[in-house]
Amino acid sequence: MGFYAEAIFPRVYDWLIDAPHWAKHRTEQLAAVEGDILEIGVGTGLNLPCYPADVQKITTVEPSEGMNKLLRKRIAATGIEVDQRILGGEALPFNGETFDCVVSTVTLCSIPQVQQAMSELLRVLRPGGRFFFLEHGRSPDLNIYKWQRRFNGLQKHLVGGCRLDVDIRGLIESRAFSAVSIKNFYMEKMPKTHGYMYHGVAIK
Ligand SMILES: C[S@@+](CC[C@H](N)C(=O)[O-])C[C@H]1O[C@@H](n2cnc3c(N)ncnc32)[C@H](O)[C@@H]1O
Repeated sequence: MGFYAEAIFPRVYDWLIDAPHWAKHRTEQLAAVEGDILEIGVGTGLNLPCYPADVQKITTVEPSEGMNKLLRKRIAATGIEVDQRILGGEALPFNGETFDCVVSTVTLCSIPQVQQAMSELLRVLRPGGRFFFLEHGRSPDLNIYKWQRRFNGLQKHLVGGCRLDVDIRGLIESRAFSAVSIKNFYMEKMPKTHGYMYHGVAIK
């Protein structure tokens, strides 16, 4: 990856998203995680301070070295032990049924082979394991959706391959989860094109 993607974007992203309203939603997303936990596309680790106090260890995957560099600093500032893997979510080096929980926060938009990553996260979840997600994606408002499609090219270029119009509900509900619960809302202080949120849990 280039200088912008590895040196500039991680810092700008971290600065933009490290905000109290995001921390509130992250804390809600993570309130029930337990056991063996995998976080995909962990980025700079903005979820780390939002895990419940009894979480002592997590495993992370993240392909960007620039993101991982900032993540190391955040790990040092928390008490959580992190098994930090520098790789993408499409080919996870873990045995099947390894994790009780998989976490993804605004990451499915950025994974190039997202269907493959969905297959992988299902594979590594134990039966009854839970996938906790807080994602942005396709708005049901056709006017907003139209602008999401228009902004997609620029967004992908500037924001690490992020697509604004991913059908997160379809992506998750089309998979072999035994139950899926999703709450939708527009994120406060975000343009509607960028902040139509899918917050929920899917049980294997
Ligand atoms: C918008 S950032 C979100 C970061 C973090 N999850 C957070 O909550 O702030 C999207 C992340 O997905 C990562 N990503 C890109 N391709 C990926 C892949 N193939 N597998 C896993 N993560 C990927 C990016 O490097 C980036 O860190």
